[in-house]
Amino acid sequence: MDTILLNNNIEMPMLGIGTKGLNDPDICEQVVLYSLKEGYRLIDSAPLYHNENAIGLALSETDIPREDIFITSKVIPTSYHKSLALKSIEKTLNRLRIDQLDLLLLQSPLIEGWKNAWKMMEKAVDMHLVRSIGVCNFYFDDQIDELCSMANIAPVVDQVECHPFFQQHRLRKKLIMENIRLEAWYPLGHGTSFLINNTILMDIATKHHTTICQVILKWHIQVGNIIIPRSSNPYHIQRNFHLGNFSLDPEDMKKIASLDMGCNFYRVPKAIQKLQYLVVR
Ligand SMILES: NC(=O)c1ccc[n+]([C@@H]2O[C@H](COP(=O)([O-])OP(=O)(O)OC[C@H]3O[C@@H](n4cnc5c(N)ncnc54)[C@H](OP(=O)(O)O)[C@@H]3O)[C@@H](O)[C@H]2O)c1
Repeated sequence: MDTILLNNNIEMPMLGIGTKGLNDPDICEQVVLYSLKEGYRLIDSAPLYHNENAIGLALSETDIPREDIFITSKVIPTSYHKSLALKSIEKTLNRLRIDQLDLLLLQSPLIEGWKNAWKMMEKAVDMHLVRSIGVCNFYFDDQIDELCSMANIAPVVDQVECHPFFQQHRLRKKLIMENIRLEAWYPLGHGTSFLINNTILMDIATKHHTTICQVILKWHIQVGNIIIPRSSNPYHIQRNFHLGNFSLDPEDMKKIASLDMGCNFYRVPKAIQKLQYLVVR
């Protein structure tokens, strides 16, 4: 499995398993165990997914040494307050049955209090509860500048929506300048048929005797994205990890570049839109 070196010299696998939507604890536990067996060594979790207990159970059952698995979780906006952030990290560690997270991400810059939360995340690094810290959903240069100017510990990753219909060219340039890695959520566009049945991608998949999803995931790896596709289907889990020996050539990459629509699929839930302190951009 390809790994990348983060700006704090910690190695992170480039391909892992996403766990959002794995709501059934038994299914989540089985997915994590099966993924580890297939070779996955990166697990993306969050308290918001309500499945950290199930992931913890799987981690307690596997024979794979803890230090070989890279585990990510997040600080969510309801825990941004100074008095709550550290407690939420400790609760996450308890649910996951581990002593230390490899990566802790701040969920969003759109909710007031994120800077307090970041300071507590830095404290968690000092306390050895967390090895690396990063963010999610920082899409704009000014947000990243604001973060970098107040951070004592540099963010290693920005986890954002990214797939062939939303390729994040502008953001990618900014992140390269700041030495922050792009991690793609919705790497398969949340499984939307517009993307995973796209005819241009189908032609490329046919040319390489592979599937559209494998082409999409290979594209991510070739442009340098860390990816966390989610699946509860063992065949998909296996195919998403073993992408095959093919490489996308410049002509394939040009065709995929032409698919960029520069807009997101994810819609902010109405309940969150109503929060008065949500900054809409
Ligand atoms: N930080 C954030 O704000 C944020 C937001 C959203 C997501 N995330 C993270 O990113 C992860 C990935 O996002 P996501 O789960 O929403 O979307 P995704 O990984 O882009 O897509 C998942 C969908 O694709 C399908 N799929 C997976 N592999 C497939 C294959 N080989 N062939 C056909 N269909 C396939 C899955 O169905 P099957 O189960 O049937 O395979 C599922 O419906 C999440 O699980 C979560 O860890 C983070």
